[in-house]
Amino acid sequence: MIIAGVMSGTSADGINVALVEISGAGFDTRFELLAHHEYPYPRPVRQAVLAAMNAGRASVADLARLNFLLGELYASAVLATQKRSGAKVELVGCHGQTLYHQGEPAPYLGKKITATWQTGEGAIIAARVGAPVVSDFRPADMAAGGKGAPLVPFLDYLVYRDAGVGRIVQNLGGIANLTAIPAGASPEDVVAFDTGPGNMVIDALMERLYGKPYDRDGRVAAKGKPLEAVLKVVLQHSFFRRKPPKTAGREEFGREFVADFLRRCGRARKEDVVTTATALTARSIGEAIRKFVLFPSAAKAARPKGHIGTAKAVPLHPFSEYIVSGGGAKNRTLVNILGAEVEPLGLTLRSSDEFGVPSVAKEAVAFALLAYETWHRRPANVPAATGACRPAILGKISYA
Ligand SMILES: Nc1ncnc2c1ncn2[C@@H]1O[C@H](COP(=O)(O)OP(=O)(O)O)[C@@H](O)[C@H]1O
Ligand SMILES: [Mg+2]
Repeated sequence: MIIAGVMSGTSADGINVALVEISGAGFDTRFELLAHHEYPYPRPVRQAVLAAMNAGRASVADLARLNFLLGELYASAVLATQKRSGAKVELVGCHGQTLYHQGEPAPYLGKKITATWQTGEGAIIAARVGAPVVSDFRPADMAAGGKGAPLVPFLDYLVYRDAGVGRIVQNLGGIANLTAIPAGASPEDVVAFDTGPGNMVIDALMERLYGKPYDRDGRVAAKGKPLEAVLKVVLQHSFFRRKPPKTAGREEFGREFVADFLRRCGRARKEDVVTTATALTARSIGEAIRKFVLFPSAAKAARPKGHIGTAKAVPLHPFSEYIVSGGGAKNRTLVNILGAEVEPLGLTLRSSDEFGVPSVAKEAVAFALLAYETWHRRPANVPAATGACRPAILGKISYA
């Protein structure tokens, strides 16, 4: 079956479409990536999406219109990819644009609820593309008691599990998330969670300080020095201390976090501010790996008094590879600092590209795979990753 996976992440940079030929079932699925393409959002659309995400201000009419507009843009992106590849799309799996995500139950009007909202109208995509569409993947997992995220561990387990090699798979999107798959693991052994910011804080600072959407290849960060005093404080954020499973979004690391971060940087040089944000991503990931993946039972004892840095940690754990994907994998400075974090832990840094899943296409491929499972009425959440109490068939279907 030929399926288009459509992803637009929290970076609000645009739309990734992957055309994937899929056969088999569940974790015995086989797939081949036929084509992949990125379609940046036009600037006013990106602005509208960011404004809607930062909430408080968007009108209901604008939100309703954005839903239909994004449906049109997703459909155009699928049609353009289909045209380039010459393949006929039989099914679409569209993640949509997350406007709000609250994976933890919290009181609201007298009830404790979780909530999530991915926009981009499936019925519009189905009508324009002429194929059924699976969209809105997250609520079914949340209805089963899960956090609705992460959903990519389905792909991670499919592609990266190995009888003899334990792997940690790291995605560097707006938010950074990892999936840890010990050697010979069954799906119940998978650990996955958001580690905190990926590119989100870096992007916001680049916009504020340089009027640019992101730090291309990490060139600005390469010129600066991290402000250690600022890092020390921001790494105390309660999110980093919370145990997995956990999810993050603009609610944690959006506008307010960035304003506070900038305030703490004071009059520092602009490049030092960007380097500090880059180091924040890498160090929070390093800390999450040590605390929650490699040495969870030693979490409290992990930092003896006077011990600075991590180079002395003894790598007695079942992991040997660390695989990066997502747009942030192109930020060389980020990847360099990450390497300095994980290599002393005995992890070899590798790229998703080496496994036949190009870094930037991975999440789009994941939603093609998830749509395929849903189409065949099979669950595809990984309960160990989301915290759901049972497997759930994900998504809603719009027919052409
Ligand atoms: N050449 C590059 N150099 C540095 N960062 C990049 C580059 N290309 C993309 N990025 C980063 O990746 C982000 C997009 O990554 P992506 O995986 O699409 O995230 P999301 O899933 O949140 O949309 C951009 O916002 C930018 O921060
Ligand atoms: Mg993106």
